[in-house]
Amino acid sequence: MDRIYLDHAATTPPATEVLDAMLPALRDVGGNPSSVHAVGRAAAERVERARAAVARLLGCAPREIIFTSGGTEADNLAIFGAAYAREATGKHLITSAVEHHAVLRGVEALAKRGWAVTILPVDRTGLVDPAAVAAAIRPDTALVTIMHANNEVGTVQPIAEIGALCRAAGVLVHTDAVQTAGHLSTLVDELHVDMLSLSGHKLYGPQGVGALYLRTGARLTPLMHGGGHERNRRSGTENVPGIVGLGRAAELALEEMAAEAPRQAALRDRLLAGLMERIPDLAITGHRTHRLPNNASLCVKGLEGEAMLIHLDAAGIAASSGSACASGSLEPSHVLIAMGLAPGYALGSLRFTLGRGTTDAEIDAVLDALPDIVTRLRAQAARNGDTDGCDCLFCGSDDEASAEIAL
Ligand SMILES: Cc1ncc(COP(=O)(O)O)c(C=O)c1O
Repeated sequence: MDRIYLDHAATTPPATEVLDAMLPALRDVGGNPSSVHAVGRAAAERVERARAAVARLLGCAPREIIFTSGGTEADNLAIFGAAYAREATGKHLITSAVEHHAVLRGVEALAKRGWAVTILPVDRTGLVDPAAVAAAIRPDTALVTIMHANNEVGTVQPIAEIGALCRAAGVLVHTDAVQTAGHLSTLVDELHVDMLSLSGHKLYGPQGVGALYLRTGARLTPLMHGGGHERNRRSGTENVPGIVGLGRAAELALEEMAAEAPRQAALRDRLLAGLMERIPDLAITGHRTHRLPNNASLCVKGLEGEAMLIHLDAAGIAASSGSACASGSLEPSHVLIAMGLAPGYALGSLRFTLGRGTTDAEIDAVLDALPDIVTRLRAQAARNGDTDGCDCLFCGSDDEASAEIAL
């Protein structure tokens, strides 16, 4: 069998239709959208068609879309841009402990510059409590930024509720929708958000392009200074082929989302149930139902995620792990730590993220390969005497893994 790619949360392969749309923009003279001549005007038209397509995906006006170099830039533009625009009236931000580093690192940088920051905890399933957001809002709160869905465990936050309560309190709200845009509905009026980030390469578009939705009337200080592109909100000649690809990807997502989300969710549920059945001491991480349709994340007790990834890779299966090797020692991810997972489980995290091309046969291949890999690695660990003493799934509890979060 060909290699099995189950790492779509890291990046999705660009759709053929996306490549077909991008090729003319790359191959033709190109043209600078700011030029007044016909070639430039044709490039500007391509950009505007793509802007309209992204706006349709979000249910907003095209002028509310700012093209960026990706999700990280969109998050930074939202956070720093909103913070700088409001610092005269309030220097307090609210976020959650499970945000992507594109948000968390920016918030930390503002904290070093004197901003007060509230980092909200999550429960064991990774959910932020809207009541905690409401309680954290102060007269000087400039921005609330909470992600739509978590990239590691797939938990989908109650953003509509959070957005509505922020709006009632008159506080600006941003959501990082990099993992949901093109996969779940991200209509900004239903989510009640003022800003929303998305990234091309997470929805079968190209890498290196993204967008920030900015509600009309919301103030933002630009971070990039130059020729005043993107209505003075993000200077720099537009990445025309990338933007064209993102626009086509947005159109495709609108056509495919309704059928793809349940199809992938059914495959995901079969994968998780099959692994639970075949592998003892395995815990599914994230929320059971408020979950990305393509995310199957789990922890295997007593093993290291990286070791399992290497064996899966050797078996032709690409997945990922929340644990990362920092200076030679394996660290559990900040997301799993925030959810309270005990180290014996958190170090053994694995994430399979399905995509449009994922088949039943590929799920069967993982169900065949992983139990065997776990058995071999556990036998090896036992021979080496590497066994974890703690049986808990969550720190300071004696919960049974399967009782708490089995599907
Ligand atoms: C939730 C989330 N936010 C932001 C990003 C960053 O997006 P980009 O890779 O386009 O910079 C990612 C990428 O993994 C993500 O998953």
